[in-house]
Amino acid sequence: MKDRLIFFDTTLRDGEQSPGASMNTAEKLRIAVQLEKLGVDVIEAGFPAASEGDSEAVSAIAAKLKKTEIAALTRTAKEDIDLAWEAVKHAVKPRIHIFVATSDLHITHKLLSTREQILQDIIEAVKYAKGFTDNIEFSAEDGSRSDRDYLCKVFEAAIEAGATTINLPDTVGYVVPEEYTELLKYVQAHTPNIDKAVLSVHCHNDLGLATSNTLAAIKAGARQVEVTINGIGERAGNTSLEEVAMAIHTKQNIFPLTSNINTELICPTSKLVSMITGILVQPNKAIVGANAFAHEAGIHQDGVLKNPLTYEIMKPETVGLGGNSLVLGKHSGKHALQAHLKEMGYDLSREEIQIVFKKFKTLADKKKNIEDEDLESIVTEGILRTSDVFCLDYLHVTSGTTVFPMASVKLQINGRKTQDSHYGNGPIDAAFNTIAKLADTDAELLRFSISALTGGTDAQGEVTVRLKDGGLIALGRGADSDIIVASAKAYVDGLNRLEYLKKRPKQLLS
Ligand code: KIV
Ligand code: ZN
Repeated sequence: MKDRLIFFDTTLRDGEQSPGASMNTAEKLRIAVQLEKLGVDVIEAGFPAASEGDSEAVSAIAAKLKKTEIAALTRTAKEDIDLAWEAVKHAVKPRIHIFVATSDLHITHKLLSTREQILQDIIEAVKYAKGFTDNIEFSAEDGSRSDRDYLCKVFEAAIEAGATTINLPDTVGYVVPEEYTELLKYVQAHTPNIDKAVLSVHCHNDLGLATSNTLAAIKAGARQVEVTINGIGERAGNTSLEEVAMAIHTKQNIFPLTSNINTELICPTSKLVSMITGILVQPNKAIVGANAFAHEAGIHQDGVLKNPLTYEIMKPETVGLGGNSLVLGKHSGKHALQAHLKEMGYDLSREEIQIVFKKFKTLADKKKNIEDEDLESIVTEGILRTSDVFCLDYLHVTSGTTVFPMASVKLQINGRKTQDSHYGNGPIDAAFNTIAKLADTDAELLRFSISALTGGTDAQGEVTVRLKDGGLIALGRGADSDIIVASAKAYVDGLNRLEYLKKRPKQLLS
């Protein structure tokens, strides 16, 4: 029988540590529901000691999901473990994920501790967590740069204390595949009780090697991979789920493993995560990039038309592309909409359906075919982000060859109605200036990008902005059939996310 590969998804924890990405509880829940449909085995839902928001999100996800294992990250301190357990305990299968750094560099300079003390902390922490659950993962942060024999000692002690999964992260994306293979083999050969735990790997992409390292680790015996959708995460990101899943699927001769991933949900999940986080997927990104299945050269096009196998190693349908996600139109009723939203993973209340239906009808008047992406966008903007500080009520712009571009804006600030008008270099600049004056913000616009949400000339424009305020960076996103309105929505969304970050203590992880 083939071995099974466990997919541990950390989009909601390490992924959320991507610069600018921040999600509220409703958004995290939406992603978690989608990850369950996709078939991931474990969802790392957050780091409860990091903030109340993280705790709340982990609890909500733990209570909602029906079959997926939910992990909460924690340091070795007992108070942190208590918070992690409190948040995750209602999951069908809760997991406590304890981590501490084991490299001398981190022990000496970051933790100001000693190898002996850290070893003691690990044993105590795992034993303490064991009082809550048998399902305990231990991660040796910066494991790939730790002394090998010390690492083996740490793993042996953690397993002895009760850890059932042992994770060896390449925290700073430093190793190359050969080194990782060798390290994993060494650890397996020199940790006497290693067969009592699942060996897991967690790679970062600083040298662009996260997927290669993860695959090398699987070859070397790892049976859990820690990944994120679209590879989002700290700095250059984490190993991307879709790349590993499709490598396993496509290269069964090399990786004779099974997994629970429904590959046809890969692209819809990628789009959802991109939409909610505001982090765009680069067009040439493997598997989920807009160009991943596009053939530009004439010779290639000719070959694919004659036989797709000439230039396609995977079928677009296998990753959920090519199927028409067209669902509803102008004449569709509320029940059809509600049923489809349910199928997509949204269990909305009567009032929420009412809001979505109204926005759906407005869009359907402008756009013939309403696709899943349009609906996701409507729900993200209209339902998931309701507790925001700023709310755009009205926008009117004048621009053209003979007038100075000017915008009039009505903006609610914590429910208080404000309005103003200002000029700008163009209509978008005028809208941003006016919103910035009303919101009394000096946030700097670092990036502005626009694309079409779906195909067709009547597609909604999707705008993402990157805003900086002091040391904080937030991404904002907006969609509308009018690109100036989409831009204003994205700007307001970015300001709201900055407000959210201001209230949130700085992440504890580096
Ligand atoms: O990169 C890392 O080492 C981590 C650990 C907390 C698992 O994210
Ligand atoms: Zn990490």
